Amino acid sequence: MAVAVREHWSSRSGFVLAAIGSAVGLGNMWRFSYLTAEHGGAAFVVLYLAITALVGLPVMLAELVVGRGSQKSPIQALQHFGGPAWKSLGFVFVAAGFLILAYYGVISGWTLRYAATALFTGFGTDVADEFMDIAQGRDAFALHVVFMIATIAVVAGGVKRGIERTAMILMPVLFLLVCGLALYATTLDGGAPGYRYYLQTDFREILSSDVLTQAAGQAFFSLSLGMGAMLTFGSYLGRDNNLPDESLIIAGADVGIAFIAGLVVFPLIFALGLSERVEESTVGALFITLPQAFAGMGAVGRLVGTLFFASLVVGALTSAISLLEVVVSSAIDGLGWQRRRAAWVMGGLITVLGAPAAWNIDFLGVMDQVANNLFLLGGGLALSLFVGWAMKDPIAEVSVGAEGTRWFFLWRTLLRFVVPSILLVVLYDAVPKTFTSVANLFR
Ligand code: TRP
Repeated sequence: MAVAVREHWSSRSGFVLAAIGSAVGLGNMWRFSYLTAEHGGAAFVVLYLAITALVGLPVMLAELVVGRGSQKSPIQALQHFGGPAWKSLGFVFVAAGFLILAYYGVISGWTLRYAATALFTGFGTDVADEFMDIAQGRDAFALHVVFMIATIAVVAGGVKRGIERTAMILMPVLFLLVCGLALYATTLDGGAPGYRYYLQTDFREILSSDVLTQAAGQAFFSLSLGMGAMLTFGSYLGRDNNLPDESLIIAGADVGIAFIAGLVVFPLIFALGLSERVEESTVGALFITLPQAFAGMGAVGRLVGTLFFASLVVGALTSAISLLEVVVSSAIDGLGWQRRRAAWVMGGLITVLGAPAAWNIDFLGVMDQVANNLFLLGGGLALSLFVGWAMKDPIAEVSVGAEGTRWFFLWRTLLRFVVPSILLVVLYDAVPKTFTSVANLFR
């Protein structure tokens, strides 16, 4: 069998933008805003930032190190550095890719629909009631299919011509959109309470265990960690990349855009007097409250609404690409498939798997919980143990392209002790809750 040459990014900025594209997505806008609203504003944000720095960054660097060092997709990368026993963790990663993309595609389908509605007809004032119908059923599935086809087409195009090129075009667009919307939001009368709600801190909120769990899950989800997505992207890197620097840039951009998205969402909601709805709506926060705000703003609302949901579509697409790439690269390396075949077959399977989420929003919610609380947090724990303890010389590996080792010892110490401890505490809270949710669903 001829060994195919591994694909690589064509430039550093290509990789960085693709990784930011993976990180920045629905998590930043949809999940981040509703979790922040649910957990009392800035206290949650502070905790989220702390976990991103203390847990997220080290794990991201760990994923990139394993990927670049092995030049392989997750299953074989783990085997490369840890022997056959660690292979099974790679399979868990691939399974997580299936699970997450299946419902992520459904939510992305909603954003497609909302972007089109804002553009062509504008929102009616009854969106709140309509959301449940729109979000579940045949139409929801159809739009999920449309979104998945776009995702598959990009991944089928390859690392350079598909993933990298898409990110190079779309990420600057997304950044401009979100910043523009945040600037626009400052001009709204009555937005001040929104900023206050978002930025005012009630530190008592931080003390409940649930907040820690949610913040940790959100950090992993938003940074695309715990299932080998960054690992896979890292496997297309050359050895001249400075991985600690890249991690900082990627995480910084992710956190930055989530924060700016909050500066869009909260003033909008409060300016239109919809604040009492913020705390009650969870999954639907973006899809119920914001369209109501846009509906109350006339023609401007249509323009702003279109731009807002277009930015969601863009973010969702570049994230979905990375989820599919984990599965596809594993099929290429493990089964010897051609990229195009791998993309269409695996993408097709995932599309079908999204059907239950498309027909039932509670099912979708539970899939999200299982993915975050079990797969990503558990995957992050396993990965930190892998790089912290099982891998022979991770510091030698991370030093390539980034000499000067002052921080590397701190990195490994975090991976060995701090990250696993925090994740164990979180999992202790999250695992039973997740099982309860699953059980409730089938009652
Ligand atoms: N980070 C993306 C978001 O915030 C979602 C995502 C893409 C993801 N790839 C991932 C989440 C891998 C977990 C793991 O929307």
